[in-house]
Amino acid sequence: MIQWQPDTWRKSTAKHLPDYPDVNHLAEVEKTLHGFPPLVFAGEVRSLKKLLADVSEGNGFLLQGGDCAESFSEFHADNIRDTFRVILQMAVVLTSGTKLPVVKVGRMAGQFAKPRSSPTETIDGVELPSYTGDIINDIRFDAVRRQPNPDRMLKAYSQAASTLNLLRAFADGGYADLRHVQSWNMGFVRSSPQGERYRHLADQIQESLNFMEALGVTSLNTPQLRQVQFFTCHEALLLQYEEAMTRVDSTSGDMYNTSAHFLWIGDRTRFLDSAHVEFCRGIKNPIGVKCSPTMEPDELIQLLDILNPNDEAGRITLITRFGHDKVETYLPKLIRKIQQEGRTVGWSCDPMHGNTIKSSEGIKTRPFDQILEEVKQNIKIHRAEGSRTGGIHLEMTGQNVTECTGGLDKISESDLSDRYRTHCDPRLNANQAIELAFLIADELKRNGNQIAV
Ligand code: PEP
Ligand code: CO
Repeated sequence: MIQWQPDTWRKSTAKHLPDYPDVNHLAEVEKTLHGFPPLVFAGEVRSLKKLLADVSEGNGFLLQGGDCAESFSEFHADNIRDTFRVILQMAVVLTSGTKLPVVKVGRMAGQFAKPRSSPTETIDGVELPSYTGDIINDIRFDAVRRQPNPDRMLKAYSQAASTLNLLRAFADGGYADLRHVQSWNMGFVRSSPQGERYRHLADQIQESLNFMEALGVTSLNTPQLRQVQFFTCHEALLLQYEEAMTRVDSTSGDMYNTSAHFLWIGDRTRFLDSAHVEFCRGIKNPIGVKCSPTMEPDELIQLLDILNPNDEAGRITLITRFGHDKVETYLPKLIRKIQQEGRTVGWSCDPMHGNTIKSSEGIKTRPFDQILEEVKQNIKIHRAEGSRTGGIHLEMTGQNVTECTGGLDKISESDLSDRYRTHCDPRLNANQAIELAFLIADELKRNGNQIAV
């Protein structure tokens, strides 16, 4: 294997990368980005890796969620706050079910680039490059706007920096104080059945806090009650951007991608001689690997040999996304292989990407029941195999969108067009996300979520 450098991916097979028309312009932007400050710090990345090592040992639960594709047009403080708040609410619900610390990671502050099934899109006989995310081109179907433009990377960096700034302020500045657990239940969630159940849970937390306060434990003297650790993640897809954000950490001498704490390799780019695998091999961040039905057990082990040769705990999270009707066929094979080979991984369930369908009107959607079914199956299968579901990976938003059907609010196919705002895949709205968290917590409780002995 060649000696890794941040740019050795350029010699491997690169799929799903844009064809920039002006390479000099691209090189200039890369240089500019390289000179910008890091967005995250190596010490934070190491903290996350420790927490993920705990997850792989059954001492934590990973909650990853956020947009399928962040966009420049939906960039707003309220959207960031609402998604952050729903993630916190879900974490409270999941903690109550698992009795485990929940590791919170937002698909935020950098989740811009998208792999697409076809490189071009044809409308009324006009063929243009597909939309591949705001960091690359414009969603509007127009010849100039669909050209990949490197300047968009600078705009994405700036949006990611502002988003992270706000997230850090929310996480440390008092918003996340557990004493406010009641007031997080706001907006359209409050008046829903999910809101009712959440309020009940929040009352119990409030009582425990009052009890602890009587003993002298308050958020003033116990920072854990006042602050949360919140991390960011995105798909390591646009390698020109990721390379430019990769830096040597001065304390350890190691290379870190400073665009997010956690990066994952998408299902379409996780093949063995992929540029994306080569890039991720050399950075020290925790890495996710998406696993669909096309992932062969032997191939998975070869991938782990490349990405985690020393079998370091916390390095690899396998994010399985088979679909509710396929998980039973494909998941056991991977679990058994990992066990036979004695590898250390965290197992997360992405119940979104294997359950995408077209509505009768041709709108991309996901039925809530199928999403829930895949999680239930995932938990059951892990339990039966003596393994454990260590996390959940969701596309969701704090907004009241109508993109996935079903849930207690009974969103129907004909409701989808009311508030369908995603730039890519359909997301759970806040009510659906909280409902799902309760149902997953119930399921984990029922299954013990312990290794069967
Ligand atoms: C995604 O997570 O948005 C995605 C494209 O997933 P996958 O690579 O699993 O299809
Ligand atoms: Co998606």
